[in-house]
Amino acid sequence: MSGSLSRRQALRALGGAVLGGPALLDLVEARVPFRRRSRLADAHIEVLTGETVGRIAPEIYGHFVEHLGGVVYGGIWVGEDSTVPNVGGIRTALADALKAVRPPVIRWPGGCFADAYDWRDGVGPVEKRPRRTNFWSDDPHIRDLGNIPARFDPNRFGTDEFIRFCRMVGAQPYLAANVRTLPPQAFMEWVDYCNAPTGSTTLAELRAAGGAPEPFGVRYWGVGNESWGCGGNFTPEEYASAFRRFATWSVPEYGVGLRFIASGPSGNDRAWTRTFFEKVAERRDLGRVWGWALHHYCSSPNGEAVDFDEQAWYELLTSADRMEALITGHWEVMGEIDRERRVRLVVDEWGAWHAMTTNVAPSHLFGQQSTVRDALVAGLTLDTFNRHADKVAMANIAQLVNCIQSLFLADGDRFLLTPTYHVFAMYAAHQGADAVRMQVSSPGAAWTDRDGGARTLQALDGSASMAGGRLLLTVTNRHVSHAVTAEVAIRGAAVRSAKATTLQADDVHAHNTFERPDRVVPSSSAVQASGPSLVYEFPAASVTSLELEMGA
Ligand code: AHR
Repeated sequence: MSGSLSRRQALRALGGAVLGGPALLDLVEARVPFRRRSRLADAHIEVLTGETVGRIAPEIYGHFVEHLGGVVYGGIWVGEDSTVPNVGGIRTALADALKAVRPPVIRWPGGCFADAYDWRDGVGPVEKRPRRTNFWSDDPHIRDLGNIPARFDPNRFGTDEFIRFCRMVGAQPYLAANVRTLPPQAFMEWVDYCNAPTGSTTLAELRAAGGAPEPFGVRYWGVGNESWGCGGNFTPEEYASAFRRFATWSVPEYGVGLRFIASGPSGNDRAWTRTFFEKVAERRDLGRVWGWALHHYCSSPNGEAVDFDEQAWYELLTSADRMEALITGHWEVMGEIDRERRVRLVVDEWGAWHAMTTNVAPSHLFGQQSTVRDALVAGLTLDTFNRHADKVAMANIAQLVNCIQSLFLADGDRFLLTPTYHVFAMYAAHQGADAVRMQVSSPGAAWTDRDGGARTLQALDGSASMAGGRLLLTVTNRHVSHAVTAEVAIRGAAVRSAKATTLQADDVHAHNTFERPDRVVPSSSAVQASGPSLVYEFPAASVTSLELEMGA
């Protein structure tokens, strides 16, 4: 099937198995009470409001910013003298839009960059800060672009600027320390610079002299990044030993309550998880590990962000769904050693990673467009985290702007919100709510893999959370061309009123451009509903949030 598959073409291609034309549109619009339509329901969603999984840590809705391509320079940071509207050098439009989705935490400065970064280069008087070769300088995509900040970091955006950005948008900072090229002493001094009270140490004085008398109070500290790879190519035994040296009990707390996040496995490498936990527990240091970092990027073999066929649609969503098994698999191994379940999972890099063929500027390393398909990746991944609220304490989508699965794209004064941004807005109310058990039984979407194998992917999936008298249900319909009607049964409460917000488009390849920034935006409508159940039709290839006000 060609890359420009519209939903209508897909419907035709799938023949009689799907609803088509006006009938589909009629059904998409039809939202009627459960009783009248119950026989038409082909999926069932049961929400067990009495069965709480755990509180959804707001930090699950976190972000990630690395000194890579156009993320920092040109993305967040435009400089005080820029013609692009900014507050102290930070792009105003980005800060405003980010604040609106309540970002709980932002990870910085990497990624691989973190294990080559000396934080001391990015503090103190701006004119004295050195220019350094960026970790990504030799990447073939940007190697020939001259002395751009993506290759030679001017250190104009350092710790102070990052903290200022966090404060502007209301997020907590999460700093990733360099374990590959710096000793633990440098790490301790970064903690000192950030958290020591003014007047107490020379580094606190340096911070205050730079205009920040109030300590930054940084609580989250990553001890390296991908330490099995770009972060030092350690063995798990070596990394466990490095972690113990960095995260020793003698790192000063300054009253903050530090939370150390250890560098977890590559994909499904359970041996890395097991060995690290064994080695750290052997020295009775497990209490120093607050979070165990896991990274998962999904992709489809053709790698194209926008030019994909139906097979690649399902390949990407199947790849994204691996998150579920990664969480449960590593969680099981962690529990073999951490019997008291003190350590939580931190998925501090996740997203859909496509080929670099749709970046909006050549210097945007790993820059790519974000279509309806990526919005589904965001929805189903966030739903996975919510369903595992008892295990996942933080997650950070990679990366905020001009990069892998970004919420924003920016070039000069041009700026847009991607469909992924809209999913974060639709899901924001899950933050801090109680995840409740949700059981979904749904028809599958049939597709054929590259080896000719017949595959099925469950069409509907989602998560539910309760906060006060409000139930938020978020659901993705993975079926590329088939709307699915579901009977939604709420056990233990009754619906008083309901509102639906849906993100979909008439073409699954749709994405926002500077010329058409509102091509893919959500739309909301009231849903007629009362009592313990309702029937709702989830459009093909869509992400939906149902906000239900509950009564007795
Ligand atoms: O997000 C891009 C890169 O992907 C990060 O620097 C690294 O941690 C991961 O491999």
